[in-house]
Amino acid sequence: MRQFYPNHQKGRVSLQDVCAIILAAGDGKRMKSKSSKVLCEVLFKPMLKWVLDSCFASGIETVCTVVSDHAKDVLAIVPENCAIAVQKERRGTGHAVMMAREFLESNVDGDVLLLYGDTPFVDEETIRAAYEVHRAGGNAVTVVTADLEQPRGYGRILRQDGKFSAIVEEKDATEEQRAIREINSGIYWFRTAFLLEALNRITCDNAAGEYYITDTVAIAKGMGQPVGVYRSPRADVVLGANDRKGLHQLNETARMRVLEKLMDLGVDIPFTDGVVISPDAVIGADTRILPGTVIKGKTRIGEGCEIGPNTELNNCRIGEGVRVHSSLLEDSTVGDGARIGPFAHLRPGTTLQAGVKVGNFVEVKNSVVGEKTSIAHLTYIGDSDVGAGVNFGCGVVTANYDGAKKHRTVVGDGAFICCNTNLIAPVTLGEGCITGAGTTVTDDVPPYALAIGRQRQENKENWAKEKGKYRKKQ
Ligand code: UD1
Ligand code: CA
Repeated sequence: MRQFYPNHQKGRVSLQDVCAIILAAGDGKRMKSKSSKVLCEVLFKPMLKWVLDSCFASGIETVCTVVSDHAKDVLAIVPENCAIAVQKERRGTGHAVMMAREFLESNVDGDVLLLYGDTPFVDEETIRAAYEVHRAGGNAVTVVTADLEQPRGYGRILRQDGKFSAIVEEKDATEEQRAIREINSGIYWFRTAFLLEALNRITCDNAAGEYYITDTVAIAKGMGQPVGVYRSPRADVVLGANDRKGLHQLNETARMRVLEKLMDLGVDIPFTDGVVISPDAVIGADTRILPGTVIKGKTRIGEGCEIGPNTELNNCRIGEGVRVHSSLLEDSTVGDGARIGPFAHLRPGTTLQAGVKVGNFVEVKNSVVGEKTSIAHLTYIGDSDVGAGVNFGCGVVTANYDGAKKHRTVVGDGAFICCNTNLIAPVTLGEGCITGAGTTVTDDVPPYALAIGRQRQENKENWAKEKGKYRKKQ
């Protein structure tokens, strides 16, 4: 099976002395989105975040992102150590790079990598391999290209006598040029001093009336400077998305890659139907993922678990041998051997220790639940510190919110909370205590005590008949 994240250790060139620019100022017009295109998600991760992660993972430390002036949401995912350049009007990729001129001037020695925020699969291997070609050729510009079966929408690579000569955008291309299948990925290495010079020469004399960064190739040629290509053997690395259909294709490609990588590592995914797993998730061998399971963010799952069917985990840490069936778990930690579901909801801030059971229609929020505690049915535990070996009967509710403030509930080890108990927080129940079914606990319960807070039952003899309420079945 294809290795997607190769470990390219041998003969590594250092990328610490180079810098990078990422273009992310485009709008979401073709996506028909109110927010920025680069925030459209592939496997629940914004495309720009994929690009930023690959850039930093390859060892480049000096990075500038070009953003539009109204894109607060874009800024929110750009790390603090990344410089920002603002492009007020969207006048093309060349114009966007011009906005980073100051950044380039302060890093003028050496080379700069240019990436687009809508090309999420760029990876360290491609960045490095292209850089080696760039250095070896002493190139002014090196373009990463690939051969696509469906080159529609991409800039085409023009060659003269087999030698790279220019990039033509689809809008400007002749029929003959459109038949070319080698495309521009939008991943480039530039000699920085050359790029600064070339930026002065780019014009907007084309079908779109935009400043194209791709014109730098012909500009270099005209200046007698060497240009080169790194023709990627893996076409999917260069895929970009301009509209929702393109985004779906990227999602499908990425989804299968992640699943294949996990299978290589010993994760059991017998059917891939509806299984979507974040590229940042880590899953142990012999864990079985069943259909309809969505695993988001930086979730970590140990070995020998069974997750699904129909389950979503978001940024969770799951131990070993855990079983989760038809449930939603968010920002939660689950200890070894725990059993969750069906139809349970762990909300953020929940920690279940080893061997805990959380069953049907149970919600737990911002709480710690001790080892082997059982919360089997129809229960809400919020803002609570629960000990080990506690048993919650059916329908227990912590009343943690008084309308203004949230309060904590503390339950000691081995307590036995009978059905339909209300625990009115703040309240503390001691170790080994018992509550009577239907009790509303408003005061602390000492260890080993029985708390009963309900009206004693009275039977009124023959009441139903005398009041005419008794209806004999016909
Ligand atoms: C671009 C390339 C094309 C290449 C394709 C690869 C140019 C002229 N064309 O076309 O050759 O095959 O990418 O995917 O470069 N952006 C800005 N400001 C702008 C315009 C764009 O920041 O004014 C950013 C966008 O956010 C995007 C990237 O630049 O991340 C590329 O822009 P886009 O309009 O998608 O270019 P393509 O038409 O895909
Ligand atoms: Ca694009």
